[in-house]
Amino acid sequence: MSVKRIGVLTSGGDAPGMNACVRSVVRTALYHGIECYGIRRGWNGLITGDVLRLDEKKISHIINRGGTILYTARSKEFLSEEGQKKAVSTCKFLGLDGIVAIGGDGTFMGARALTLKGVPCIGIPGTIDNDIASTSHTIGYDTALNTIMDMVDRVRDTTESHDRCSVIEVMGRNAGFLALNAGIAVGATCILVPEIDYDIDSYIIERMKRTMTTGKHHFIIIVAEGVKGVEVGSLAKYIEEKTGVESRATVLGHVQRGGSPSVRDRVIASKMGYHAVQLLKQDIGNRVVAIDHAEIVDYDIIEALNMKKTIDPELYKIANEISI
Ligand code: F6P
Repeated sequence: MSVKRIGVLTSGGDAPGMNACVRSVVRTALYHGIECYGIRRGWNGLITGDVLRLDEKKISHIINRGGTILYTARSKEFLSEEGQKKAVSTCKFLGLDGIVAIGGDGTFMGARALTLKGVPCIGIPGTIDNDIASTSHTIGYDTALNTIMDMVDRVRDTTESHDRCSVIEVMGRNAGFLALNAGIAVGATCILVPEIDYDIDSYIIERMKRTMTTGKHHFIIIVAEGVKGVEVGSLAKYIEEKTGVESRATVLGHVQRGGSPSVRDRVIASKMGYHAVQLLKQDIGNRVVAIDHAEIVDYDIIEALNMKKTIDPELYKIANEISI
């Protein structure tokens, strides 16, 4: 079958670089004589028929923009059989021969369901969390890391000026990739990630007291949002009580998801978008595009969803040895 028209959507939490990926999908498709439709608000757009034709003009000047011009959503309706049937009939009505879906694991489950119903779909990993096992890097991760580094550097200026301790919560849902790597980049004294259990007294309080003997009086503690039983406000109070160091809590929040994508995210997004269209052109669906360090690869969606990835224990060891 020759592929004439495809759709592209973004789903789940937005991530910087999604627009660069949409642009790459559209540009690659047009280059090969394939029409491209943008589907708005993730899978919801396929259910309601909220689509727009994407031409060269519609996707110009978006490579540098954060967020997603297609909007995004986490569609509940698409999880149901009925929702998926509606999506298939929209695809048939519009003559869509395939879909590129940019998002996380939930998005890939949707891509698999639709492929099994006869519409080939390709998933592309887009999330700041980097918690997708099949790929070494997700679109948005590098930008978010740089944003966190920049924000924490600013917090450090005031933390140091007041001889304080700043306890800073970063995103990452249940994964510690953002916390660990950003923590190293900002020279954090302690980094708490969901993958590791802690004893607060020995890991934070003892370490801070030891550090104070070197003459240092300001501290940055990075906490991943998914660390069980830790709330940064209460942790800051506890630290102040136990060490006498005045402490403040900062939740970085959604600032981490915004902003212009980094070089790395723009390039990865462009390569992944290109690769996805090459697969659809051959009428191949049910694949996840990934990057294995520098090489672009693809996997069966179920194989990709069953993969496991965790923080690098060696990196964690390094972080703890070089921080005081
Ligand atoms: O998955 C990306 C992410 O930003 C997570 O780090 C965070 O836990 C979640 O999304 C927040 O989601 P929402 O924007 O719906 O609050």
